[in-house]
Amino acid sequence: MASNMITITNNADGSSHEYPLKTGTLGPGAVDISALYRDAGIFTYDPGFMATASCHSAITYIDGEQGVLLYRGYPIEQLATRASFLEVAYLLLYGELPQERQLLHFERDIIEHMMINENLKNFLNGFHYDAHPMAILCGVVGSLSAFYHEAMDVNDPDYRDISARQLIAKVPTIAAAAYKHSVGEPIMYPRDELRYCANFLHMMFATPRADFKPDLIAEKALNLLFILHADHEQNASTSTVRLAGSSGANPFACVAAGIASLWGPAHGGANEAVLDMLLEIGDVANVPKFIAKAKDKDDPFRLMGFGHRVYKNYDPRAKIIREVCHQVLEEVSGAGDDPLFELAMKLEEIALNDEYFVERKLYPNVDFYSGIIYSALGVPRNMFTVMFAVARTVGWVTHWTEMMSDPANRIGRPRQVYNGPERRDYLPISKR
Ligand code: SDX
Repeated sequence: MASNMITITNNADGSSHEYPLKTGTLGPGAVDISALYRDAGIFTYDPGFMATASCHSAITYIDGEQGVLLYRGYPIEQLATRASFLEVAYLLLYGELPQERQLLHFERDIIEHMMINENLKNFLNGFHYDAHPMAILCGVVGSLSAFYHEAMDVNDPDYRDISARQLIAKVPTIAAAAYKHSVGEPIMYPRDELRYCANFLHMMFATPRADFKPDLIAEKALNLLFILHADHEQNASTSTVRLAGSSGANPFACVAAGIASLWGPAHGGANEAVLDMLLEIGDVANVPKFIAKAKDKDDPFRLMGFGHRVYKNYDPRAKIIREVCHQVLEEVSGAGDDPLFELAMKLEEIALNDEYFVERKLYPNVDFYSGIIYSALGVPRNMFTVMFAVARTVGWVTHWTEMMSDPANRIGRPRQVYNGPERRDYLPISKR
């Protein structure tokens, strides 16, 4: 039997079939069972895709046991502290770190496209003042296909590149506009002379009343947070974008679907839920009560910001954010460590010494500390997941591009194990 083949034997009838073992450059291989239904008339069953590889990808590699995260082979620890967010966006999109001229042209192109069509303001004004910014972002990004529909040919690589850059450029502008709408302030336009993160801070916090100079510490913190959130392999929202895109849907609609998936509290919505949880806990004295709730099977409460489907070690992103928290809190707020940060560290210390969390390998994830920095930067809680979406737009459009340029790409269409009623005949209402 060839070493790179896996045999599946059905003990019910003694039949067996061999399937190729596909291996990549790093990490586990996968058995290609695409012929299983044809050979054996059965499906595989893997709800939540715990052990299912949906595709080949060369973008991001995660080793959950070792707590390793690589973007196109580069360790997240090196990129987070040494690169700019648009430099990382270029790396993810095109596979190589840009040379100086390439980066300059890319930055210029993105900044020049940050403006949105003036008519999009009509959409924003249609939302109630207290609409959640994620609802606004999801709706307005989905509507972009109504504005940028010229030559919308998803099979044309040039169109794919243009729309990927359009989304990287315009999502932050829409995100900031959603915030301005929620606080009743006029939308601020991007500025050609500002870098990407400084532009975002300008659009969020500047007003027509006075000149606004983005704080350099805040810009540096945002640059780091955006890099950490840029991509993460086949997570729920990225898989949503891929599945939507597999039907040939336009990239604006696909990214809107990704935004919707990210909003869930089990995924990107966790960063907002962490701050809500810390505020509910309120004091270190209450931590044991909440730890007990998190362990109680009858209580739906979970320790938000803890646990991860892939990381069974400390999330490397959480480690970096935790270290930066001290510095940002000191330099931005000047008030030293925020009491919520102190509470978060105490909660982490208690949980990481509790057998329930240790046994299940539940560690803080990227969402556990990010909200504390966003708060220090003046970002309100209901904007935390929007910040995540701005950064993850880079990962979403990169995965969409990779999938659409793969000749093997076909529509995603999972099957099921049916456990509903067998065939039965319609009964007239008088006989039911
Ligand atoms: C992100 O996939 C990605 O890469 C996502 C992400 C990205 O960058 O895209 O990294 C971003 O979404 C991070 C995760 C943010 N979510 C949260 O912080 C919400 C709280 N975490 C959990 O809901 C949970 O840990 C998940 C959703 C993150 C992972 O869920 P899994 O892999 O389905 O794990 P599970 O539900 O099967 O849990 C295994 C056990 C269970 O206990 P037992 O049934 O074995 O007794 O661990 C327990 C769970 O009850 N558990 C928790 C827990 N997380 C898991 N118990 C208490 N608190 C928690 N947070």
